[in-house]
Amino acid sequence: MPGSIGSYTVQNYGRMIGDKIRTDSYIRGLKRAIELRPNAVVLDIGTGTGIFAMMAARFGARHIYAIEPDNAIHVAKQLAVANGYADRIEFIQGLSTDLELPEKADIIISDIRGTLPLFDHHLQTIMDARKRLLAPDGLQLAQRDTLTAALINAPEVYTRTVEPWKENMYSLDVQAARHLTINCWGNDKLKPEQIVMQPQQWATLDYTSLEDVNTSGTIQWTATEADTVHGFTIWFDTTVFEDIRFSGAVGQTDLVYGRIFVPFATPIDLTTGDTLTLSLRANFVGGDYIWLWDTVVTNESAPNTQKVNFRQSTLLGEAFSPDYLRRRADSFVPAVNDDGKIVRFVLQAMEQNLALGEIANKLTQQFPERFQNWRAALDRAADLSAKYSL
Ligand SMILES: C[S@@+](CC[C@H](N)C(=O)[O-])C[C@H]1O[C@@H](n2cnc3c(N)ncnc32)[C@H](O)[C@@H]1O
Repeated sequence: MPGSIGSYTVQNYGRMIGDKIRTDSYIRGLKRAIELRPNAVVLDIGTGTGIFAMMAARFGARHIYAIEPDNAIHVAKQLAVANGYADRIEFIQGLSTDLELPEKADIIISDIRGTLPLFDHHLQTIMDARKRLLAPDGLQLAQRDTLTAALINAPEVYTRTVEPWKENMYSLDVQAARHLTINCWGNDKLKPEQIVMQPQQWATLDYTSLEDVNTSGTIQWTATEADTVHGFTIWFDTTVFEDIRFSGAVGQTDLVYGRIFVPFATPIDLTTGDTLTLSLRANFVGGDYIWLWDTVVTNESAPNTQKVNFRQSTLLGEAFSPDYLRRRADSFVPAVNDDGKIVRFVLQAMEQNLALGEIANKLTQQFPERFQNWRAALDRAADLSAKYSL
């Protein structure tokens, strides 16, 4: 992809930096933290193109470790040289979770969230860095995220999400697809007038003390008038450092993170006295989050009768093939397929100190049906070398 410097493009990094509310808050927080810790050692986790590392140098940090697995780090190095900071920034290509430092960091800065902070290895990474790499009285940016949920009346968003799979679309039975789509959440723009009742705080992630990568909480709304809710959104408000904060609330300036809309299984018509109880869990499984949202509606006139009882989960929103599930079962006895044999062959050849061209020669001889020519074998060996060689 033109402009690509890894899994992100330079435009992706530019969009992050271009979010002035986010970036200015981090930079102001970093300045203040360095004022509190003169001669600080700073660790910038996920430095990308190096923005926070360079600003740490500008604010007088003694030494900055800037770690990033993406090839963006090469751009970061160039920028550090161009700005005269290369002598104080040590760039390391890799993951912070594999990092050993010769000294503890006085300040750790990172923004490796997705649309929400409960994303990928974010919390695991922060906890690991705090425990292993931060000095005992060290400072962290960001310090805290507060997550808030709001019920949403947005027929058009719901329609966009679910309607293509409504009953009898073109006289086809599309129930299976509908079942998947109501168990996914998507990104959408939302307006304050679409919020029904008061938003409720769902969870707080205090990065300075967090111990659990999973988050759960139950919130309730009681309707004082009739309304229809199609789903809910969650946003986060961030304390970057002390009183330096920014808000992802609906109605505030849209941030680079985007905004989620989580649909209910069907739109819910609330009447006066209805209580909607939302039990929302985010469980870290296999490297990312599974979201589960159980929704129950009762009315004060008949509290033991559930008008609505939905159990939804992003786990039900994924179309796993039976074969995929079969091959992940604990009873499955795996056998190595041809691709696996090629990987094994190349890794073994790499241990024999052979040049890639020689490995490609051997590959074409060993797997003639898989490699039409030496060039194709070289490409495969080079891919594996890029991933696994020292
Ligand atoms: C969204 S970018 C942030 C770039 C820049 N720091 C900024 O705020 O503009 C997040 C970066 O974190 C990196 N990243 C994610 N997990 C990481 C980890 N455990 N160690 C180092 N980098 C990580 C990703 O590759 C990505 O480039």
